[in-house]
Amino acid sequence: MTVTYHREQELGIITVDNPPVNALSHAVRQGLNDALAQARNDDSEAVLLLCAGRTFVAGADITEFGKPVQQPSLQQVNEALESLNKPIIAAIHGTALGGGFELALCCHYRCASPSAAVGLPEVNLGLLPGAGGTQRVPRLTGPQVALDMITGGQKITATDAAGLGLIDRVLEGELKPAAIAYARELITGRAPLRRIRDLSMPASGFDQNAFDEYREQLGKRKRGQQAPQKIVDCIEAATRLTFDEGLAFERERFTECMASEQSAALRHTFFAERTAPKIRGLDTAVQPRPINRVGIIGAGTMGGGIAMVFANAGIPVTLLELNDEGLQRGLALIGKNYGITVSKGKLSEQEAAARQARISGSTEYESLADADLVIEAVFESMDVKRQVFSKLDEVCKPGAILATNTSYLDVNEIAATTTRPEDVVGMHFFSPANVMRLLEVVRADKTADDVLATAMALGKRIGKVPVLAGVCYGFIGNRMLRQYGREAQLCMIEGAAPEQIDRVLTSFGMAMGPLAVGDLAGLDIGYKARQALTAEQKGDPRTYCIADALVEQGRLGQKTGAGYYRYDPQTRARTSDPEVLEIIQAQAAQHGVQQRELSDGEILDRHLLALINEGFRILEEGIAQRASDIDVVYVCGYGFPSYRGGPMFHASQRGLKNVYDSILKLQKHTGEAHWAPAPLLKQLVSEGRSLSDWESDRT
Ligand code: 3HC
Ligand code: NAI
Repeated sequence: MTVTYHREQELGIITVDNPPVNALSHAVRQGLNDALAQARNDDSEAVLLLCAGRTFVAGADITEFGKPVQQPSLQQVNEALESLNKPIIAAIHGTALGGGFELALCCHYRCASPSAAVGLPEVNLGLLPGAGGTQRVPRLTGPQVALDMITGGQKITATDAAGLGLIDRVLEGELKPAAIAYARELITGRAPLRRIRDLSMPASGFDQNAFDEYREQLGKRKRGQQAPQKIVDCIEAATRLTFDEGLAFERERFTECMASEQSAALRHTFFAERTAPKIRGLDTAVQPRPINRVGIIGAGTMGGGIAMVFANAGIPVTLLELNDEGLQRGLALIGKNYGITVSKGKLSEQEAAARQARISGSTEYESLADADLVIEAVFESMDVKRQVFSKLDEVCKPGAILATNTSYLDVNEIAATTTRPEDVVGMHFFSPANVMRLLEVVRADKTADDVLATAMALGKRIGKVPVLAGVCYGFIGNRMLRQYGREAQLCMIEGAAPEQIDRVLTSFGMAMGPLAVGDLAGLDIGYKARQALTAEQKGDPRTYCIADALVEQGRLGQKTGAGYYRYDPQTRARTSDPEVLEIIQAQAAQHGVQQRELSDGEILDRHLLALINEGFRILEEGIAQRASDIDVVYVCGYGFPSYRGGPMFHASQRGLKNVYDSILKLQKHTGEAHWAPAPLLKQLVSEGRSLSDWESDRT
């Protein structure tokens, strides 16, 4: 039974029990309807609605989306709830989200544990609250709060929600007895049936202009996304229509969102992120190793950020550097970063100090003797990494996990420098490590299953989205990035300006264009890496000649005030630089490239197809476990718009045949070997099968 109804003296108690998150499946909706019918007809004086398990209702059942709605709908259940002939009180623990919070808003009163949170996160799925949320919240809070809450999609704590009038009482102690006492208090006080639908909108002074201004700002913050704008339309409707008209308006907008490609992509992303940490074929008996203390080697860009990630998750860290000077520099940078977070009001000074206190510095390897996990983040050099891992092999306790944050180097080779390759794994964080959500967990040939399970579980514990990758140059993300970056270089030498390339890709929804990213990261990094390659490894000399020329002229990107663009030394504001066009033209002439005008469509296509083609190779080689893992890598680590689902989802939406034909055309047109269609893509197209068919046949 997913929903039960029982009596405790004068109270009727409805309990939803639908693990793991009490989603509003058809069975739950039916159960609620039946329970409400019982409550309506018995002599109970008030009804309590609560949930079993770890949380209150976390929303509509997303697995039912896209299928025909089975009656009763959530709207019908809500109608029955709000119309109940006696007070009904929601008792919230965990999170009341989306349709779950809307259910609570249809109760006449809401109480919650102090640790509970509420929210309307539908926007993160490309949707809007479709069960009255856009009409009921503004009736309690006014439009401004409702706009911020619903377009932001963030959870708010029970205490904050109480401050906004969304929760009536925050209850200390065990929730159920406290909620029963609260319900009795309401009965004794003859509390009215407080139906939000009957409340009028609070006077707010929020007029048409204010809504238009909000839409404009939102257009910048949530560039390219449809659902946020429709949310504003609904909240505006709440200010001018009757409740029932507003509800009908919301319903129409919800249906439009549900049918949109953006929502399909975001729903794909939701499940892809939750599937990624699961390791195919791993024995369920495998248990992760306990991780209570972490060592990090190298307090540079990555090491400092990774130390913060663990400290933020409450795990003590020892940060090791070559010498005291390097260590103090690294620790000072960490302190500065926490200071910035405090100054932005995102962290209290006390909490920042507590987090920083979890990071201790050292220059002695012996200080890592009690670490359960050590992550190496030293220079990207095999020689240096070998020295570090030999030393770790000497000092670390048996069973300690030895991880490398290498971007490109062979994890098998690194593991082979130790006497315990089964304990070695790649843990590839992304810069800035304390911000980016992606973690590539790289499985080397001998990595033990429990080491992988530990890395995955730990990744989730520290708030990352872990994705399993196999060993190859650049793993999943950087291997694909190479193809994408190459296309940016080739488009430039063929005649596209950096501004055009970046504009096309940001208009598609990428967080930044490839050339602006290059300037941010520093053009010298790629340059140095290329210097180590043989002419054969470097390939076509046209490809990186522009990037090399910029570096050789001292244009290393933002840090030198010039790269593909020019940067204001104070504000870092970016402007176009005619000198760059001259450099590009000179390189084109030198390499005999006849420049031409490239259309925006060609530029976009070439970048996306480069990613997709490499994605198919990665999938076929087993470097990624699933196509959706590749999407997660791109969405969580490389700024690919989540509302487009990732490169592989995009390929499936576009149609594999279309993707294949377009790649083939590029191959014919350019004669370049890298445009040979990936064998798996070719095979699927010739067999007329989809990626998901291929994947389900493999499992
Ligand atoms: N429907 C179906 N399955 C859901 C679900 C939902 N709403 N929410 C979570 N799940 C599933 C997950 O897919 C996962 O399944 P798995 O174990 O098979 O991989 C399992 O529940 C546990 O989820 P998490 O790993 O995310 O668990 P956490 O404890 O980390 O987080 C949570 C719990 C905060 C509730 C988080 O799952 C969450 O944010 N869920 C989505 C909430 C949401 O978006 N609600 C709005 C839905 S749309 C809606 O309600 C429309 C309405 O307005 C009409
Ligand atoms: P960095 O140059 O900023 O920092 C490296 C630090 O390691 C320096 O502070 C250096 O003093 C220290 N170090 C060098 N040898 C050491 C040793 N033997 N013992 C102790 N400390 C030592 O480099 P960054 O950018 O932090 O990169 C580190 C690693 O992370 C590299 O493998 C890199 O490929 C990888 N990486 C870098 C990313 C980036 O965007 N910078 C992203 C993801 C991975």
